[in-house]
Amino acid sequence: MGSVIWNRDDFCHVGDSSKVLKEKIPEGLKVKLFLTDPPYNIGHNYGNVSDRLKKEEYHEMIKNVLTSAYEVADDSSHFFMIHYPEAIAEMWSMITQDTGWKFKQWITWAYPSNIGMSNKAWTRASRTVLWLVKDEGGDPTFHPKRIIRPYRNPWDRRVAQLIQDGKRGCSLYDWWEINLTKNVNKEKSDYSNQIPQTLLRRVIRSTTDVGDLVADPFAGTFSTVKAAIGTGRLGWGCDLNGDTPKYWPDDNDFNGEYQEEEFSVDQEEKFDVVRAGISQGNLNELVKRACDNDELSPAKKKWTLKELEFIESTRE
Ligand SMILES: C[S@@+](CC[C@H](N)C(=O)[O-])C[C@H]1O[C@@H](n2cnc3c(N)ncnc32)[C@H](O)[C@@H]1O
Repeated sequence: MGSVIWNRDDFCHVGDSSKVLKEKIPEGLKVKLFLTDPPYNIGHNYGNVSDRLKKEEYHEMIKNVLTSAYEVADDSSHFFMIHYPEAIAEMWSMITQDTGWKFKQWITWAYPSNIGMSNKAWTRASRTVLWLVKDEGGDPTFHPKRIIRPYRNPWDRRVAQLIQDGKRGCSLYDWWEINLTKNVNKEKSDYSNQIPQTLLRRVIRSTTDVGDLVADPFAGTFSTVKAAIGTGRLGWGCDLNGDTPKYWPDDNDFNGEYQEEEFSVDQEEKFDVVRAGISQGNLNELVKRACDNDELSPAKKKWTLKELEFIESTRE
């Protein structure tokens, strides 16, 4: 895989993905990760593509894309589908029994929202990120330590030891709070349902390695492809809407220098002293104690200080 050079002509396409997937995956490559957000069939404007199919037609379309994806997937690979929970529930047996893909985990993506308020129900502010796998070649790659949440109680002796051993946090929960792509963001286009780069990169970095093939069969603004090539993966995308080539990335958007690292935090978060059950004074004391601790070897001290500086930097 290392010898393939990313270029938009081979990796970006227009067409029906149930067919294009089988015809246009570059030779010699197998998809390690599908990461996609299908049309929700609720009437969004996708140019020449109807987002109001009859229910049976819609389910058939999703099934055909999942089945084609399974055919071109590596024996050990992932499929992440972002959708509304009730829509997934409606398609559950088809998705998990008729396509080859097996259920792995149900993740909830929550996003604060000021739209969709109603007097009849609570405000919709979440979607499902459904994780499916093909495990014919053993468990697909998973790197839960690449993106972590910082420890909340670094003063606990066991946690302090973990920090001194070079760890910087725990694996993520199965619910993610990530803001929607807002109009003020540089990455935002005028397309419906553009998925935020933080979420896309989180999945890509946790389930693939640099050089792997990552595909989005409902690519829209090619946000998944951009997240993939920005992290040194080979991003492949296809969309049936003939207007989408204007979103295709350029050949020089591929980041060939990208290197993976462990224990990164992908969202700025204030250190929550209240949730951690300490005062600001306790936190300051901790930093001081680490600086004054002569028993720590220079290497361990460096790590501890780095961790505490990091904690410091995450608070206001
Ligand atoms: C929810 S949007 C995807 C938005 C995308 N996640 C983003 O961040 O920009 C769904 C897309 O699926 C496309 N689509 C619908 N049916 C398709 C098919 N059979 N093959 C390929 N694309 C299709 C629509 O044109 C639309 O752009």
